[in-house]
Amino acid sequence: MTNNLPIGVFDSGVGGLTVAKEIMLRLPKESLLYFGDTARVPYGNKSEETVIAYSRQIAQFLCSHKVKAIVIACNTASAFALDTLAAELPVPVIGVVKPGAKAAAAKTEKGRIGVIATSGTIRSGLYERYLNSINPDIKVFGKACPLFVPLVEEGLTEDSVTKQMAERYLTPLLEEGIDALVLGCTHYPLLTDVIGEVCGNGVTLVNPAYETAKELSELLSKKGLLKTDDTPAVHRFFVSDGEEQFRRFADTILPCELEEADVSRKVFS
Ligand code: DGL
Repeated sequence: MTNNLPIGVFDSGVGGLTVAKEIMLRLPKESLLYFGDTARVPYGNKSEETVIAYSRQIAQFLCSHKVKAIVIACNTASAFALDTLAAELPVPVIGVVKPGAKAAAAKTEKGRIGVIATSGTIRSGLYERYLNSINPDIKVFGKACPLFVPLVEEGLTEDSVTKQMAERYLTPLLEEGIDALVLGCTHYPLLTDVIGEVCGNGVTLVNPAYETAKELSELLSKKGLLKTDDTPAVHRFFVSDGEEQFRRFADTILPCELEEADVSRKVFS
């Protein structure tokens, strides 16, 4: 029965685990089939064409394993590949950009929103387009923060270097008087403390991972696709390289521990 199939979730690597975590917390009965493209990460500095090609390969792989829906957990892949995948795939597809934009539009009072993300996501202009389709008067200030991803992956979330980079990246946005900030990259929710400290109380942080899990739950319910049986959730993970490193990172993020057998390698030729 379709309802009891897993949900496919993919990202350029480990970052999408922040989205997987929110889905596990909101929909604890649902099983996930996660793909992290650890051999080809980062997507954030790649061309639209390349990101679409990679995303298409992964989505087809997930569909070949029978999933009932696909979540593009990567902001960059959501920005470049959502329309293509939604048009091509036989299952519902959602990305993280639209839910993040919707929440930010609802949270701003001054109509001045900052978006921090990879260079690719900022270049795509998609957050801005969504925000302005909700309210054309909203002013959007985008900033690429390319060093945040390696800082998180090096485990430096609380380091003074990260704080300095946050000040450097965020000061121009704060000078524009933003009152909401979209954490528009999978890794940035892991920097919530330092970003919140730099922004202060006057800026509401928006986590697209959280908003996406909420939207996914509504979508599955609307389409009659929520899991119906009471068997426990079973999560499987595929990566294109570095299974052990992935498992260690996952254990710091997910609400469940991964066994060695839960993570397999899939290499695209
Ligand atoms: N997952 C990517 C994103 O959310 C960040 C890492 C990368 O550049 O691939 O945009």
